[in-house]
Amino acid sequence: MHRLKPDRLPRHLAIIMDGNGRWAKQRMLQRIVGHQKGVETVRMIVEECSRVGIGYLTLFAFSSENWLRPKTEVQALMALLKKYIRSEVPRMMQNNIRFAVIGNRHELPPAVNKEIDEAITRTATNSGMLLTLALSYGSRQEMLGAVVRIAADAASGKIDPSKLDEKVFSGYLFTDGIPDPDFLIRTSGEMRISNFLLWQLAYTELYFTDVNWPDFDAAQLYKALKDYQDRERRFGLTSEQLRSCS
Ligand code: FPP
Repeated sequence: MHRLKPDRLPRHLAIIMDGNGRWAKQRMLQRIVGHQKGVETVRMIVEECSRVGIGYLTLFAFSSENWLRPKTEVQALMALLKKYIRSEVPRMMQNNIRFAVIGNRHELPPAVNKEIDEAITRTATNSGMLLTLALSYGSRQEMLGAVVRIAADAASGKIDPSKLDEKVFSGYLFTDGIPDPDFLIRTSGEMRISNFLLWQLAYTELYFTDVNWPDFDAAQLYKALKDYQDRERRFGLTSEQLRSCS
């Protein structure tokens, strides 16, 4: 177990949980078994992140593009999500975790939305880690939606287009009020962002591991966090400038 420096943890950790299908295939199991095992990893990682002091954890659980998967897999994933959210609320309460969802919620089945509403309401006053699930989420769609609403607000005089800046634009995104991720982990060896938080990841440190999501454990999480702590974040400045600021 690596020793982590509490003052150098990412405030916001985002994770692209990938490789459930390959994990299952390698074991001659059905893809859904990989997703079921993936849920166990979600449970453990959520608890670990809350325990070490991560402020915001955002998990990419279902993309806008995932609707195109075979119907049986989509149905199974929706059923898993519903079950997960329902069963996790007591644990979120125990761990003081607040729950949120980003994405096109109207595309989700009503039964899933019901569990989401319930979990959001019940955890609303918790003051610990914010756990956000990205569901039916696509970053381009999110930005396009923001542009459409900004144009409407400009046309109706609600906002002045000449005053539009990064802060105002961010306020039109699903992630309004959530700081940009400091650190992104993607499992399973794929090295791409896959339409996840494209605006928000501008200065995020990226970490890719070959480990499939069902095999990603606490030791892997600590290894990744240790890697983050050893990095220098310059935000476009030079090392010398950073040193003179601190
Ligand atoms: C990627 O594996 C994973 C997903 C599409 C969804 C992630 C879902 C879970 C971890 C389970 C449900 C989540 C929650 C929060 C309850 P993949 O199917 O793309 O794997 P592959 O690339 O190996 O085929």
